[in-house]
Amino acid sequence: MKTVSTPPNPKLIPDSLSFSLNGAAQAVTMVLGGTALPQALAHVFARSEALPQARGAIQDIAYRTMRRIGRVEALIDVLTTKAPEPVLLHALLCCALALVSDPDESDGPPPYNEFTVVDQAVTAAAGSPDMAHAKGMINAVLRRFLRERTALLQQVLQDPVALLNYPAWWIAATKQAYPQNWQAILTAGNTAPPLSLRVNQRKITVEAYLAMLQAAGIGARQIGPVAVRLDQPLPVQQIPGFSDGLVSVQDAAAQLAVPLLDLHDGQRVLDACAAPGGKTGHILESANVDLLALDSDAKRLPRIEENLERLQLSAKLKSGDAGKAGWWDGRPFDRIIADVPCTASGIVRRHPDIRWLRRKADAAQLATVSALILDNLWRMLGPDGKLLYVTCSVWPQESEAQAAAFAVRNGAVRLEAPGQLLPTTSKDEDHDGLFYALFQKPSSAQ
Ligand SMILES: C[S@@+](CC[C@H](N)C(=O)[O-])C[C@H]1O[C@@H](n2cnc3c(N)ncnc32)[C@H](O)[C@@H]1O
Repeated sequence: MKTVSTPPNPKLIPDSLSFSLNGAAQAVTMVLGGTALPQALAHVFARSEALPQARGAIQDIAYRTMRRIGRVEALIDVLTTKAPEPVLLHALLCCALALVSDPDESDGPPPYNEFTVVDQAVTAAAGSPDMAHAKGMINAVLRRFLRERTALLQQVLQDPVALLNYPAWWIAATKQAYPQNWQAILTAGNTAPPLSLRVNQRKITVEAYLAMLQAAGIGARQIGPVAVRLDQPLPVQQIPGFSDGLVSVQDAAAQLAVPLLDLHDGQRVLDACAAPGGKTGHILESANVDLLALDSDAKRLPRIEENLERLQLSAKLKSGDAGKAGWWDGRPFDRIIADVPCTASGIVRRHPDIRWLRRKADAAQLATVSALILDNLWRMLGPDGKLLYVTCSVWPQESEAQAAAFAVRNGAVRLEAPGQLLPTTSKDEDHDGLFYALFQKPSSAQ
């Protein structure tokens, strides 16, 4: 199958739905070829003349599609006699079906009239040399879906992959880990995520910031000590005070990390897996510490720098492997936060592509890497020092089982911490699935 993405077609009008469908189909094509959705979108935007509004529409369609790809691929199987080729055509059908096929509207009402979607999907195909041959097929498939929707959905939704929109192995793993509430966890992962902010206590109180939002006509509520959730997500440029560092975008569960560290002015702190710097900024907002922000990916360090510049805060930044000691000057740290690389199975509502890009063996492989990181960092922690282990996973292998094994291996004292937080989307509690374990080194330790 041909997987190359073609540049956005000049024949399509840049603010039309056909243009957005074409852009979203290109991004989805790249995801089906193994690229993460944010990188795929960045690639599409770099090659297109999409204005900000069209970029928003392309992004929205691509995310909606990834939240339903199990279902729409099952529909395509039933609605076509042979697999649509090239992959771009398959992806265009996925995007169009994603806009018309949602019976539960888990991420908001459909944004477009159904017949407009059909018409614009046909226009998108007609405007592309790779797909023009199939415009009749697209028209026929989408119109048949609209006519026979109830029966077709009833047929495909028998399959859990189409119903729940996760790979079969992911569904089985969630069921095994959470026999009571696996469905709620999977359902939460299919909702559109809220936009949650962390209020910078150095600059403004939560009350004053809420008043600022109200004055700007933006609905919001407090959902954590310094966490505010907007009623409707907004581009960051439109969030009052964002560019001045009054707030940062951060999920409410992620905001629990830094208070657990029990920071005091003057401490020597290591943020061991720091990029893009969400928790780095929170650490510096909370206390005047001597902070080293480390990440193994040197290309991600500028992201931390940008975040800190916006907050007008600073830390030492270094690229290095937290599982090795080459970058360490030998002086022990008072506090270490290890927000390790993981499957990200707890943040799938923000990254609906992850479940399709991961493989079953990834959790075990990543847990091995995290164990090396934790054991290495433990040696760098001073007596009485605290190490906070964080993952954005819901798999026990990467969370509780890992924490328990680490404590046994190292004689670490386990302190009170939230443990496994499952993703939740209630009115007052709305956060991702994160895991926290806090360890203290005995005072007699070397
Ligand atoms: C979950 S993200 C960290 C998120 C960050 N703490 C925040 O709050 O914004 C994990 C990070 O770990 C980095 N990483 C992966 N392996 C690493 C290693 N062996 N040593 C240091 N950093 C690593 C990745 O590049 C990635 O930036």
